[in-house]
Amino acid sequence: MQAFLKNRTPKAPIKTPNHPPRRHDAQRGEMSREEEVCVRFLSCADIPSLLELEQKKWTDDQRADAAMLAARIAAFPALSVGAFCARSGTARASLFMKPTRHDHIRQCSTWADCARKQHGDESARTGALFGISLSSVDPKAANAVFEFFWPYALKQGWSDVYLGSPVPGLRDWLSKNPDTPVTRYVQSQRQGLPLDPQLRYYFKKGFRRIVAIRDNYFPHEPSLDVGVLIQGKVPLSGLSFIWKRLPLSWLQRMKKLFFVCL
Ligand SMILES: CC(C)(COP(=O)(O)OP(=O)(O)OC[C@H]1O[C@@H](n2cnc3c(N)ncnc32)[C@H](O)[C@@H]1OP(=O)(O)O)[C@@H](O)C(=O)NCCC(=O)NCCS
Repeated sequence: MQAFLKNRTPKAPIKTPNHPPRRHDAQRGEMSREEEVCVRFLSCADIPSLLELEQKKWTDDQRADAAMLAARIAAFPALSVGAFCARSGTARASLFMKPTRHDHIRQCSTWADCARKQHGDESARTGALFGISLSSVDPKAANAVFEFFWPYALKQGWSDVYLGSPVPGLRDWLSKNPDTPVTRYVQSQRQGLPLDPQLRYYFKKGFRRIVAIRDNYFPHEPSLDVGVLIQGKVPLSGLSFIWKRLPLSWLQRMKKLFFVCL
């Protein structure tokens, strides 16, 4: 599978305008370039920029160091995606994934267990991925990363993505609702959306199934280290027999449709 994925690493990055141009024509070139993000599969050359992003978004006990980033990219280059500012080249969003097995991921109790490379991962043909890490300083860049990856996912036969979400509203909620089970908070909804802001974020991205709630999952103070294993479907993956036969470029042309189908 890994060899298959490597052969399909894109030769040219894809540029995604973040906003429609708004200024006078003379200024438009500069404006749209400033706002453009360039999305591509990651290489080790991106590590300095990725480290800056890690620094912005994670605390000392959470963030990945250069060796961890290099190991993720080396293990699964076709499952490591980044969005970069087209003008400055700085990393705006990154997503690292690995293949997993449904039964295995459900048994793992911590993020480290879920993220650890397992013997046979490369050849696993389960259709399931685990999202090791998502970091973003720009919601449009995060969207562009998913938009970039979904066509590859369909082509390669990935159908499910698991990830462990923090629940940053938990600590405050428990202080107001002591003696209430954590499960109640995790399952609470307001107007059809999860109460917790990060679960709500992932819900809107199509990660709607709560699989498990894990104590001591990952160091995250506002979440009291609780992690919620959630599962999302790759949009349109139910028709994978069709997508596997279509050229990748056709799927890439359909990219806006993926968000409608979440
Ligand atoms: C989660 C993350 C990737 C989202 O990045 P993004 O797409 O650029 O979007 P934002 O950070 O602007 O957040 C979007 C919304 O989700 C909410 N949200 C997401 N994560 C949140 C968190 N940890 N705490 C509070 N709110 C959060 C935001 O409040 C925001 O809500 P709004 O639209 O009502 O303002 C980014 O915040 C990040 O890198 N966080 C730190 C690392 C992390 O938690 N990664 C995911 C681990 S599974």
